[in-house]
Amino acid sequence: MRSVEWDAGALKMIDQRALPWRLEFVHLETVAQVAEGIRNMTVRGAPAIGATAAFGMAIAARECAEDDMAALLVCLEQQGELLKAARPTAVNLAWGVERLLDVAHSGECKTVDELRETMLLAAQQIADDDVAINRRMGGRGAALVNKGATILHHCNTGALATVDYGTALGVIRAAHEDGKQPHVLLDETRPRLQGSRLSAWELEALGVSYAIIPDTAAGYYMREGEVDIILVGADRVAANGDIANKIGTYQLAVLAAAHDIPFYCVAPTSTIDLALPDGDAIPIEQRDPVEVTTPYGAAIVPAHFKARNPAFDITPHRYVTGIVTEQGIARPPYTDSLARAVAGYEL
Ligand code: MRU
Repeated sequence: MRSVEWDAGALKMIDQRALPWRLEFVHLETVAQVAEGIRNMTVRGAPAIGATAAFGMAIAARECAEDDMAALLVCLEQQGELLKAARPTAVNLAWGVERLLDVAHSGECKTVDELRETMLLAAQQIADDDVAINRRMGGRGAALVNKGATILHHCNTGALATVDYGTALGVIRAAHEDGKQPHVLLDETRPRLQGSRLSAWELEALGVSYAIIPDTAAGYYMREGEVDIILVGADRVAANGDIANKIGTYQLAVLAAAHDIPFYCVAPTSTIDLALPDGDAIPIEQRDPVEVTTPYGAAIVPAHFKARNPAFDITPHRYVTGIVTEQGIARPPYTDSLARAVAGYEL
């Protein structure tokens, strides 16, 4: 089952807001619906957002009614900007839009109808590639996991956060499939609770041993000597290896360094943004404080209590032991290794 896929002329996706209680699907047919689905986190996770953006551009090609190629291209650029504005941090969103604009501008299609068809095929290819890339990363990353290891994991980086299989959770899945019997401590990941709601749902289905822990318990388990390795995903990796990921990642990395625990990021090359020299330039999404005070409609405090809600933080590269990509494991100095991975070299 894929988190996003083309179905009966529309973009079908799992509504991740309903899990783990209900497995529901939505069908999106307009660019505005796709942008809203990204914004309200019906779909979330950097690679899943990237594939969604690509399908969104295929929808844009249909929605733009122009018969003239030049006018269609102008309309596609405008719709691409609309999609890119949905969430700022995950570079995969812009990446998915740009890949489809590259197809549109390639000049290979002679008619507008041919272009519309070709853009849908390109989006489907991006979705298929994502699954293959995740499986490759899983295989490469599983080598880092010793038999019986306890892995600390943050947010959700599994099949739901990608088209299928996952990044950091994909590594855990591959280690499980290799018979390494990993045990996973799942940070619940306040305030949206992707760890407890989504990662636990996935590991339940896979039969992987896990326990949900409060985010605040991560240091406790590290000090107890229970954590062998930490695996997280990324929404954007800067050229120097600084990582933007779900809020709370930074404190895990600092604690990992204090306890001499290896800290790995698992991210496809589509998440690496070589245009940004370091993490300072990565835009951090600030979400509605109501997610903190009233998660999923359940008020913790009176509505007028004040809160702040940064959705991501930056982990400086000095805390990152390695970055698992589909090209292999990037090691410091990251300016060299990441550039080589993006250029398509095996690491
Ligand atoms: O706000 P979210 O749920 O979209 O954030 C997701 C994360 O931070 C993930 O760790 C990241 O996208 C990598 S998912 C393979």
